[in-house]
Amino acid sequence: MSEHPVEPQYDFGGAKFDLNSPEDREIIRFILSQALYGEATGVYCGKSLYAAGSLEAARFYVRQAKQELAHLQLFADIFRALELKPLPAHWVIKLLSSHNNYYPLKVLMEHAIGEGMVLDIFRDILLATLPDEDPRVPLIKKKLRVVCKEEIEHVEWGEKETRRLLAEKRWLATPYYGLLELQMAVLPLLVRAFEKRTGQHPVLAHLPGFLEHVRTRVYNQGKDLGFVPEKRPGAVKRAVAMTTGLALFLRSQFARSKSTLEKTYIDELGLGDHPRPGGRGGSSDSHSESGSGSPDAVASA
Ligand SMILES: [Fe+2]
Ligand SMILES: [Fe+2]
Repeated sequence: MSEHPVEPQYDFGGAKFDLNSPEDREIIRFILSQALYGEATGVYCGKSLYAAGSLEAARFYVRQAKQELAHLQLFADIFRALELKPLPAHWVIKLLSSHNNYYPLKVLMEHAIGEGMVLDIFRDILLATLPDEDPRVPLIKKKLRVVCKEEIEHVEWGEKETRRLLAEKRWLATPYYGLLELQMAVLPLLVRAFEKRTGQHPVLAHLPGFLEHVRTRVYNQGKDLGFVPEKRPGAVKRAVAMTTGLALFLRSQFARSKSTLEKTYIDELGLGDHPRPGGRGGSSDSHSESGSGSPDAVASA
């Protein structure tokens, strides 16, 4: 059963954008431009195929790359339908969507948290605030629902791998927590451009509430995954965690992809003397319970 519903989780109280208002169109253009950039970089998950530590991971990244390519096209269709031109991405989006070769950070930061927040924006903002009365919107929402369903799969992969890695390497909990605090610290910078207008606009009036909703959801996600303490630690402990997280992140920037399948494929396929616990032979659509392969083989930091 999915823990991630397809229906919006934040209540905008019926506030809608007006797709004929130039001001609203600028806001929608900003949001869609970040989405388009995120989807373009999402295609680079194909890079993870080279370093996939198991057949299961290889299957996931092939599937994800195809899905992200399709999302890119779907967002291009939405730009055309609304007669909008994309803007360059915001620096926060560029930072949050940069590829990480170090697998333990990739699954947490890109899939579990990053794509989780992507889902918050697509599902909670766009699906809730685009006006159904506009004849262009029903088709746009149909496309967005397809994207959301697939983003949920990506988040679930990230969560599954994060749990497995944390069980294997408990020490990851502190840098993971620090990185989550850092990500939450840069989040408000993304919406700073709109803060002055939050008082006047029916949708933007919800911005502070929505940000709080995202923060709470992400902290709860981290608690559920087992690396965010139940009670938020004091400033000193948080600073230590953030430093540890930053150090691991900087180290990860020098990680190089390392291939492993050419060494493990016989066991992965269940044809060797040491079948891997998560190896599933030739099946291409079943799901392993325990995950497989060595995450450290995916990248060396
Ligand atoms: Fe996507
Ligand atoms: Fe995705």
